[in-house]
Amino acid sequence: MSTLTKVLERNIKVIEKNADLTEGRFRLGHHLMPPVGWLNDPNGLCWYKGRYHVFFQYAPFDVEGGLKFWGHYTSEDLVDWKYEGTALYPDSPYDCHGVYSGSALAESEKLHLFFTGNVKIDGDYDYINEGRETSTLHVESEDGIHFGDKEEIISFEKYPEEFTCHIRDPKVWKENDRYFMVLGGRLKGDKGAVLVYESENLKEWKFKHIITTPEAFGYMWECPDYFELDGKKFLSVSPQGLKREEFRFQNIYQSGYFQVKEDGSVDERDFREWDMGFDFYAPQTFTDNSGRRLLIGWMGMPDAEEEYTNKTIDEGWQHCLTVPRELRVKDGKIFQYPAKELERLRKEKTILDDEKSIVEVRIEVNEGFDLLIEDIAVTDRSFQISMGGQMLFKYENEIAEIGFSEIAGAGRNKRKAKVSELNNIRILADTSAVELYLNDGEIVFSTRYYPDCEDLQLKVKGGKFRGNLWNLRKMIFTK
Ligand code: FRU
Repeated sequence: MSTLTKVLERNIKVIEKNADLTEGRFRLGHHLMPPVGWLNDPNGLCWYKGRYHVFFQYAPFDVEGGLKFWGHYTSEDLVDWKYEGTALYPDSPYDCHGVYSGSALAESEKLHLFFTGNVKIDGDYDYINEGRETSTLHVESEDGIHFGDKEEIISFEKYPEEFTCHIRDPKVWKENDRYFMVLGGRLKGDKGAVLVYESENLKEWKFKHIITTPEAFGYMWECPDYFELDGKKFLSVSPQGLKREEFRFQNIYQSGYFQVKEDGSVDERDFREWDMGFDFYAPQTFTDNSGRRLLIGWMGMPDAEEEYTNKTIDEGWQHCLTVPRELRVKDGKIFQYPAKELERLRKEKTILDDEKSIVEVRIEVNEGFDLLIEDIAVTDRSFQISMGGQMLFKYENEIAEIGFSEIAGAGRNKRKAKVSELNNIRILADTSAVELYLNDGEIVFSTRYYPDCEDLQLKVKGGKFRGNLWNLRKMIFTK
């Protein structure tokens, strides 16, 4: 370990030691958050030697972002988590301005991590067409905790000419004894695209082709992911530069997927957003030992500070990850639902009486809850769930909408989605984060929120339904 790495490690440990993962009004009960400072994308998600590994973009020294490291959590069951400390430091000439996003490939004896090293040259550059060097790097580990030396596997100088300097976020997978990698990029002329590479040995990578839409669909595609589910191929990307619409692309940046056609192409008309909430970006998927495909997203939104903020900044930390979601294909769409294991957080249950069309219960804000409402038959054209006037879910005229009060939303107002019917809704609510799953995960809204009282009245009205409400125990986070 170099002297620089030692100094960084020591300093991070000092600030993390003083940070309590559970202390603070908005500290979360069942969402992964940074020990201190800033978190963004989930990275290196995998199942390796009996444990789940969740790495994340981590800026421990600055709650507003800045220099990126990889933080690291592990878990045996997706319920309780251990914080393993900082896995990767920006300590080499290839990544001195940030260890950017990437993925893991878990083989039987070794865990491989692939990521982008960010280097910004000092000078008068636009940092789009010049001034930025972003090579693809690799490290490996035998125990999943300690990593060897970084090697450059694709130098920024070797990327295809038609791209700007914005190429990053490798996602690697294995198919028929060969390895493949997708990288996100910005073509010259401002068109988002994915670069596809192939390798036989994980060290030498050969550029194959690019994947992009016929028409430009945003100027940049970040954090690509490519996977098969239920015999179909999907490409997930986080495009930047789409025009906002009433029911689509409501945030500054998006995340979604295309179903890849037989000939390997994608079409912008097939793009489906992963999530309709305010705080969701840069998701990544992986498969575990049971063969399930799970997805975790960043519950945050870059460059949205002028629209909405996070009250956790005053507590010295910002952002979190979504809960792990299991993916399933139905009617050509991917449905997302909280991994079954999360039900183990449920404590006592309250049954909501379906005979009355208004049900009210008190909930403690600092205890998370899991609300499941099924067999919904909407009457009076409208179905609503409100939480003490601070949050409202509404379903009316085939439109689902979430809305927040000024205080609870910290600038978040409304987000909408078209849904032809509402059969069930599951709400996983944490102290300052809420995820709503409609129709077994056909539509999801993920959002931070900041209720300003200790308990709230939860009110469900407008139809016949079966409802169950559970208080949730908090996940155990150990350091
Ligand atoms: C997405 C992203 C990635 C990049 C990382 C840097 O949020 O911009 O493209 O690798 O964050 O933290």
